[in-house]
Amino acid sequence: MVTSSSVPLMMFLAVTATLSIVECSRNETYRAIVGHLTDIKSYPWLCSVIVSGNFVSACTIIQPTWVVLSADNLNRKFPNSEKYFFQYQFDMRVVSGSVRRIQKEAIASQVKTVLRIYLGNLTNVLNPNDFSYALNPQSLTNIAYDGYGIAMGVSLLELGSPLKWSIYVSPAPFINMKTAENMESKIRTFREHLEEKPLDQTPCVVVSFSKFTNSMVETEVAYVPIQACKEAYCIHDPANCLVYPKAEYLMCFKSLQFVDLCPSDRGAAVYCENFDSNKSKQVVAILTTAINCGAKNLPCVYTSVEMVARFFKRVARRDLEPGP
Ligand SMILES: *[C@@H]1O[C@H](CO)[C@@H](O)[C@H](O)[C@H]1NC(C)=O
Ligand SMILES: *[C@@H]1O[C@H](CO)[C@@H](O)[C@H](O)[C@H]1NC(C)=O
Ligand SMILES: *[C@@H]1O[C@H](CO)[C@@H](O)[C@H](O)[C@H]1NC(C)=O
Repeated sequence: MVTSSSVPLMMFLAVTATLSIVECSRNETYRAIVGHLTDIKSYPWLCSVIVSGNFVSACTIIQPTWVVLSADNLNRKFPNSEKYFFQYQFDMRVVSGSVRRIQKEAIASQVKTVLRIYLGNLTNVLNPNDFSYALNPQSLTNIAYDGYGIAMGVSLLELGSPLKWSIYVSPAPFINMKTAENMESKIRTFREHLEEKPLDQTPCVVVSFSKFTNSMVETEVAYVPIQACKEAYCIHDPANCLVYPKAEYLMCFKSLQFVDLCPSDRGAAVYCENFDSNKSKQVVAILTTAINCGAKNLPCVYTSVEMVARFFKRVARRDLEPGP
């Protein structure tokens, strides 16, 4: 397939192959200049989690009363305090339908309180069903970690009241959303195709909020074959070799722009064209590891949405239902 993306993709693969890129100064300021601006109607499932005016994490709407976010972003300290964001359940708000990272007055947005925080405790990365969870945790010392944070990188929030679907607020169109098993097999097919023909891809898109412009930005990313991703992490830190990323439900994407996603973008969804006859775009994974905004050519790691479906089923005791 020849697409307009072929040139950047080939450049990107050449860079990945040599892994000898000069490290440039990449940070969230620079990223704000590089990302494309976008609007909420194109990505109405993007939301943000806020505690007392502080941005906690990007989040992705999955059901009328449920959003998924980054567990590691919840595990950051509230500024100038000894407490962690996950301990501020009653001050936590989920803002949807907004183009601003932090918004003072509600315009098109719906702001919801948080009824429950579910934090996954995944104890065996080789068995995605081997997890328990903590409800409204007060400490995370007993939670299983992997190389770069909480092993179950995603966390779920149950909202105090349902979101109303509109052109600004709508759940993420997960790939093949029926059961976790259906999603898993579809994602496996999607990945097998890209592992075999990495150049045969149209870029996927990750939408999140810029820390410096406060607005929604779109980043084009390409799927990185798993072996190349493992090698990049092994070179980045020899302690990762053979251990990270290891789990089958983790996948890697790399920005086609100069900078990649940053830690506060974790919780945002990656939206890709599927390989069905209709080639519609669907969400395949949630950003869960973003170490250094792409410095040293390190890809970001995403958790497949099948894991979100498994976690949701465990806590809500039902399968995900498609939106409007
Ligand atoms: C971020 O990168 C820009 C551009 O390279 C640089 O001017 C700025 O000083 C950097 N900021 C930080 C906090 O490192
Ligand atoms: C996480 O799982 C481990 C192993 O099963 C268990 O020892 C630990 O208590 C669990 N932590 C929580 C908070 O459930
Ligand atoms: C077409 O796309 C929709 C998602 O928009 C999907 O649910 C459906 O299964 C696709 N149809 C085929 C034939 O793949």
